[in-house]
Amino acid sequence: MSLLKIGNIEITNGVLLAPMEDVTDPPYRLLCRKFGADIVYSEFVAAEGIIRDAKRSMQKMLINDAERPVSIQIFGNNIESMIQSAKIVESIGVDFIDINFGCWVKNVVKHNAGAALLKDPDKMIELTKAVVDAVNIPVTVKTRLGWDKTSIIIVDLAKRLEDTGIAALAVHCRTRFEAIKGEADWSWIPKIKANISIPLILNGDVKTPQDAKRAFEETGCDAVMVGRAAIGYPFIFREMRHYLDHGIECPPPTMDEKIFTCLEHLNLEIDYKGSYRAIHEFRKHYSGYLKGLKSSHSVRQKLVTINEISEITEVLMNYRYDLINSEVNTASEE
Ligand SMILES: Cc1cc2nc3c(=O)[nH]c(=O)nc-3n(C[C@H](O)[C@H](O)[C@H](O)COP(=O)(O)O)c2cc1C
Repeated sequence: MSLLKIGNIEITNGVLLAPMEDVTDPPYRLLCRKFGADIVYSEFVAAEGIIRDAKRSMQKMLINDAERPVSIQIFGNNIESMIQSAKIVESIGVDFIDINFGCWVKNVVKHNAGAALLKDPDKMIELTKAVVDAVNIPVTVKTRLGWDKTSIIIVDLAKRLEDTGIAALAVHCRTRFEAIKGEADWSWIPKIKANISIPLILNGDVKTPQDAKRAFEETGCDAVMVGRAAIGYPFIFREMRHYLDHGIECPPPTMDEKIFTCLEHLNLEIDYKGSYRAIHEFRKHYSGYLKGLKSSHSVRQKLVTINEISEITEVLMNYRYDLINSEVNTASEE
């Protein structure tokens, strides 16, 4: 049994929703919690944006009691901004703060934030300690193995991060150079684990229920964190939970569950961020929701060109009707 303890939160064999920009917004976090994610993380929020009270940053920090336990993830490079923003995040009543030292994208790295701090571990430690000391709620860190394959520093770094007082550490088992390509290297997890006593969360390529089980068994991690496998597929949390608890797969979502959850999710997004943004940003979710359904490719191609919810609903309902008809026809032919 793997126990993840962060403050008062205690979870056995935990399966967590990874922070993902333009994906893990409040509506989607709530949906993933409903399907069994044990903890959900916000998209990363810039410390500077929080301090400036930027509309987009504040919107990312809306939390709903029903989604707890929830963490807001912050990133930045300036110590004062990190302290101030952490205090603001604490004041909104979040369960814990996560610091992002793993983001690989150029726009973040060029400002010496996110994964850039892997090249300056002293600064990373200084920033982390400042945030831990500034707030009374738990602080966690999410980072990577190192900058590139020739500079994997995670084993020593994990110990130094633990010494700052963080409550848990999540490691995306790739380097910054690898971004999200190639295979995540879980072999580092036991080595990190041997060097620290705070909970260690494994992230990277946990895509199936079997992966989740293997991650716990092979690495001794205290929880797993799921990223891309959860895009357009909140059902992954139910499937992983069931497999971890019972050792067998649960039935996959039905066609109706996929289509109606897709629409429920999209409508929640429209309420949250308005029709235009919601419909455009939602496009990345269609392939997940329609995965495994007959002729979904052409429906997806159509959906990504539509800008009106009424039209999207109509396309999905017609598609559902066609699928039901083709099932009836196949059954009557047999
Ligand atoms: C669309 C997208 C957005 C992401 N945004 C963030 C982010 O805001 N904060 C963060 O720490 N990681 C972010 N990540 C990285 C994921 O949290 C995770 O570490 C990575 O996808 C590896 O996990 P996976 O193999 O399960 O996808 C993002 C990844 C994707 C695909």
